[in-house]
Amino acid sequence: MVGLPARGKTLISQKVCRYLQWLGITTKVFNVGNYRRKLHGAHQLHNFFDPHNPEGERSRREAATEALNDMIYWFKKEQGVVAFYDATNSTRSRREMLLAACTKHNIQVMFIESICQDEALVLHNIMDVKLSSPDYKDMDPEQAAADFIARIVHYEEAYETITEDNLTYIKLINVGSQVIINHIQGYLQSRIVYYLMNLHIAPRSIFFSRHGESLYNVMGKLGGDSDLSARGKQYAKTLPLLITTHLGNSEQLTVWTSTLRRTIQTAQHLTYPKLAWKALDELDAGVCDGMTYEEIEQQYPEDFSNRDEDKFNYRYRGGESYRDVVVRLEPVIMDLERQRNILIIGHQAILRCIYAYFMNHSHEKLPYIKIPLHTLIQLTPKAYTCEEKRYKVDIEAVDTHRPKPRAGAPKTDAGQPMDHIPTEAEAKSGKDAAITTTTMSTTTFRDSPYSTRHNSDYGTS
Ligand code: ATP
Ligand code: F6P
Repeated sequence: MVGLPARGKTLISQKVCRYLQWLGITTKVFNVGNYRRKLHGAHQLHNFFDPHNPEGERSRREAATEALNDMIYWFKKEQGVVAFYDATNSTRSRREMLLAACTKHNIQVMFIESICQDEALVLHNIMDVKLSSPDYKDMDPEQAAADFIARIVHYEEAYETITEDNLTYIKLINVGSQVIINHIQGYLQSRIVYYLMNLHIAPRSIFFSRHGESLYNVMGKLGGDSDLSARGKQYAKTLPLLITTHLGNSEQLTVWTSTLRRTIQTAQHLTYPKLAWKALDELDAGVCDGMTYEEIEQQYPEDFSNRDEDKFNYRYRGGESYRDVVVRLEPVIMDLERQRNILIIGHQAILRCIYAYFMNHSHEKLPYIKIPLHTLIQLTPKAYTCEEKRYKVDIEAVDTHRPKPRAGAPKTDAGQPMDHIPTEAEAKSGKDAAITTTTMSTTTFRDSPYSTRHNSDYGTS
């Protein structure tokens, strides 16, 4: 990363890291600001960053070197594929030092420079994230803001933008309103460039809902293309009010569905623009499509237990794995990054994959994420986090979540949540539930920027 303080370098590093990890590429962020705090303490005032302060200069170089050494070690010993070296790297000499060290270890370097001349945005960034930094803990906010601005002035004095034609770089100017690329090579670099070109930081909400309960859900059957049950139809009717309650009446929204009947029927009462994506169709269960978990356990016992062993990688015979679904959803994620307010009416496995992308869940946890029926999930991206709210509608629905069987549990313990599997006739005549309460809620989950997770670092400078 290259850029003055408060130019979004940490946010960009963390986002691209999350995207690559979601795709299964081993990625890690090395945040030099965290090394500085660890080595020299968190309460350094702006003088520390003055390029004419030799003591500060030496200490900052020490933090930069330690982070660089750790990064190189990680590449060599932990089979790392992509590392973000998250620091200002704002002078030519610092970049030459990085380039020399990486080249020596056969590591390709691509610089991502964020340039922002919009003073109001920089000030907003300071208020948004810098005042709550450990650097300014217990300090008066006005004093903290003044100190951070003085820190930026020190960096400006020494700042040299990238001009060398032989380097591989992308320059994002004013949050991507202009993008300059130079010497981009290979698949990974072009994926990263494409992703960066889609990013924006405008406020927005991303809503997820599974389709209303379907006839197949009621019968415990997987896949298929069945219609909604009576309760599922009621859920579809409540959705317009539920959305306007949490989005507001005047906000624009686009609705994405799959091409399957149950999601299209769930969207039918919504009056927003709609788009049906084939890529949003449910995970293909292959030969098991239309079967219940019990039937699969009886007919394909080995497959059934293999899926429990490694659910993310298990591929149904003639069908898909969660890993396959992540790959097919990649263009959806790319487009999602470009959008403002979006409602995705999807399926259990599909929404798990998209949710895991936003909430940074591992591949191991992903296939067990709880995305219940008749529940609207609202995600609101914040600087380094995603805020989550869940609104459960008071219309009963079956529970289709099958937990991971506990180690040592008998093999026949399929964990199927329903006691009785109704017939198709029983499912169709299902009793209507009342639609009186629309929302219940809400828990906010935060991925704290101060947590010790490797990709949730605070800031660099
Ligand atoms: P520092 O060098 O102090 O660590 P930084 O450059 O890493 O700063 P961040 O901590 O990532 O900056 O700043 C996050 C803020 O920057 C957020 O408020 C975010 O909305 C905003 N932001 C994200 N991308 C950009 C961008 N391309 N240009 C300017 N601001 C951005
Ligand atoms: O049961 C509903 C459903 O959407 C099925 O169509 C699909 O096969 C299943 O959920 C995916 O969930 P899991 O991966 O936990 O079996």
